[in-house]
Amino acid sequence: MFAGFALAVVIVAGFLRLAPTAPRRRLRRSVTLLGFYAATLALGPLLKLAHATVAASGVGIAAQLFQLLLVINLAAIAIFDLLLRLLRIDYADILHDVMVGAAYLVAFGFVMHHAGVNVTSIVATSAVVTAVIGLSLQATLGNVVGGISLQVDESINEGDWIELENKTQGQIKKIRWRHTVIETRDWDTLIVPNGQLMTQSFKLLGKRAGQALQHRMWVYFNVDFRFAPGEVVRVVNEALQGAPIENVAADPKAHCICYDLARDTRDSFAYYAVRYWLTDLARDDPTSSLVRERLYAALKRANIPLAMPAKAVFVSQDDTHRREEKHQKELDFRIHALAAIDLFAHLSEDEQRILATSARLAPFAPKEVITRQGATAHWLYVLLKGRALVRVTTDEGEERQVAVLEAPSFFGEMALMTGQPREATVIAENDVDCLRVDRNDLAGIIKNRPEVTKEISEVLAKRRVELAAVREGLDLDAKNQRLSSERSRIFHAIKDFFALE
Ligand code: CMP
Repeated sequence: MFAGFALAVVIVAGFLRLAPTAPRRRLRRSVTLLGFYAATLALGPLLKLAHATVAASGVGIAAQLFQLLLVINLAAIAIFDLLLRLLRIDYADILHDVMVGAAYLVAFGFVMHHAGVNVTSIVATSAVVTAVIGLSLQATLGNVVGGISLQVDESINEGDWIELENKTQGQIKKIRWRHTVIETRDWDTLIVPNGQLMTQSFKLLGKRAGQALQHRMWVYFNVDFRFAPGEVVRVVNEALQGAPIENVAADPKAHCICYDLARDTRDSFAYYAVRYWLTDLARDDPTSSLVRERLYAALKRANIPLAMPAKAVFVSQDDTHRREEKHQKELDFRIHALAAIDLFAHLSEDEQRILATSARLAPFAPKEVITRQGATAHWLYVLLKGRALVRVTTDEGEERQVAVLEAPSFFGEMALMTGQPREATVIAENDVDCLRVDRNDLAGIIKNRPEVTKEISEVLAKRRVELAAVREGLDLDAKNQRLSSERSRIFHAIKDFFALE
């Protein structure tokens, strides 16, 4: 019988080589049990020879018990360390321990019962003892129960990254009976009692059902107000998304946001952040550093300096001469911009100056609506920088793109010249700078120079026909016919509107 068990241990040990990751401590336990079994087997007959019959029967019972425990242990190794591991089924260590422990208890009860011991009365008495022990070991038991539930319900697993309520972050290395071992990025090990883990809420970093492990990170920076947020965001996005960065997820893409303007009206810079998804949670700071390198170079290339960290006092010369000089510079810039578009190119410099004096600079962020179809017109827009999309809503309520205007260009002239509502919606595609030209100034010039009307009606007619082509689906012939009729209709509409002779 003993030889059979010894052989079983050797066979199990041999098979255990198939699962190199299986822990060896359970095999060691089996060998120890085999040793006890052998010792009790040998001791029994010796005691009998010495006529110590009571002791001999006690040792006999112990031998039976060791034999059963050995069977349980070998079965547990075969199931948990061989079968489940080879099938790659993950199980919690505690599950193994609980099952083996329960089997030990049953084996003990069984052997005692066979030996004629009244197990029921032992259980009854031990219930009282258990209650007393339970009360005194409440905290420890809480931790043990916590450990079991954490592992069995798989709320956390070894390898997970966790953030505790006190903001400590780390990776779970082991969930033991009483406590959980967490390794932090600072090379420290944190021992958290399982009972505590059960009573606090914790964050599993970067974990989302059905998604790869990646955790969102923020890298902050500030840029002076002189630079449009749209421009800063574009420059940084281009640099971040242009080429991969180690440990930064490709999806979702790393991107930049402007998350605040001046705080408490004190700062003269806007607040920005790069948000990226970290794929190796151990490498948070080095990855943020790589992101900062990319960010710094991109801003440098675009001549956008980071905001000065210290308080800066700007002193500017503010005498009449300086103010006039500044005003003249701005005016020259606007005259130059107006002269660059066909519509105003033929106006005299004085006329251009009149328009430029009251014109206002109007920047728009990407996707902003500059003018809306159906609205009343107050300005004509000169597109100085960027691209604008002209869209029209058809009678069926469908929105269609009619044209893309690229700087230098103009729009908003149709409604302004005829007094009718805006014919289309114009939307900034990227960062757009416009000059808004005042309606009354334009009316004054047209009244003095009626010949301008002809050129304007030419442009208007072309654009209107393109609009009609999209709205009504005109072919080439219909477009040409419509063009000549529109030309004269618009010419008269402008004359009527501005009460020209
Ligand atoms: P308005 O009708 O005042 O407002 C919308 C503007 O969109 C319109 O003036 C034109 O300036 C512009 N627009 C309409 N159709 C076209 C087109 N086909 N090509 C370019 N611009 C257009």
